[in-house]
Amino acid sequence: MSKAHVRGLELAYEDVGEGVPVVLLHGFPFNRSLWREQVAALKASHRVITPDLRGFGETTATSEPATMEMMAEDVAALLDELKLERVVLGSLSMGGYVALAFYRLFPARVRALMLADTRPQADTAEARANRETLAQRALNEGMQPIADAMLPKLLTPATHKEQPEIVARVREMIMTTSPVGAAAALRGMAVRRDQTDLLPEINVPTLIIVGSEDAITPPQEAELMHRAIRGSLLKVIAGAGHCANLERADEFNRVLTNR
Ligand code: MLT
Repeated sequence: MSKAHVRGLELAYEDVGEGVPVVLLHGFPFNRSLWREQVAALKASHRVITPDLRGFGETTATSEPATMEMMAEDVAALLDELKLERVVLGSLSMGGYVALAFYRLFPARVRALMLADTRPQADTAEARANRETLAQRALNEGMQPIADAMLPKLLTPATHKEQPEIVARVREMIMTTSPVGAAAALRGMAVRRDQTDLLPEINVPTLIIVGSEDAITPPQEAELMHRAIRGSLLKVIAGAGHCANLERADEFNRVLTNR
C-alpha cells in the first residue's frame, strides 16, 4: 500500500503490474479491497491502481459532503502524482458516479470506461431523505445500521445462502469504514448531479457490466446507459447481484479481460 499526499488528504492506494494503466474505483461503503480478484486477474497485463476514495479504507475522512466531483478531483490529483495522463477508468456503483463525474471534468484523461452496477441519474427526493437518515445513524450509532440496511440488497439471496465468505467480506468492509467518511459520502451522493446528458458525449470505448439480480442498480439502468453511450458493450452477469465482481468473480474477470 502507498499513500499520496494530495488535496489535504492522505490518499491510500495500491499500484501493481505494468502496462496500460487501469484505475478501479470502489463502491459504497467499501474500499480498494473490493477489487482484489480483478487486480489479480489484470496485473499480469496492466498496471492496476486501486485508490481508497475519500473517507474510505485508509484514506482520510473529511466531514463535509464528499461530492462525486471532489472524489474525481482526488483521483485526478493521484494521477498527477503518478505522472499518468490517461487511464482506463473502471468503477462499481458509487465508483461509477465518480467515474462519470471524472469524465465530465477530465474527458481527455480517460482512454476507456468500465461502468459496473451503477446508474447515471441523480437521487430521487426519497432516496436523498433515506441517505440523510443513514448518515445521521452512522454518525450516532456507527456502521452497524448501514450494514443491516444494505447487506440484504448488496448481495443476492443465493449469495447470502451459499457464499458466506463473501457476505463476511462485505460486512467487514462496511464495518471497518469510518462513520464520518460514510456520512460524508452519503451526503455527497445525495447531491450528485444527473449525468444522463453526459452519456451521448462519451466517445471512448465503454464496457457496461451488471448483475442480472442487482437490486440497487438493476439491469434497466445498465441498458439505459448502453443505449445512450455510442458503441458501448453491455454484459449482464447471470445470477449476480449488486456486487457482481465478488459474487461471480470469474465471469466478471472474463468479461473484463475479454476472454
Ligand atoms: C454503492 O454500492 O456504491 C451504493 O450502493 C450506491 C448507492 O447507494 O447509490
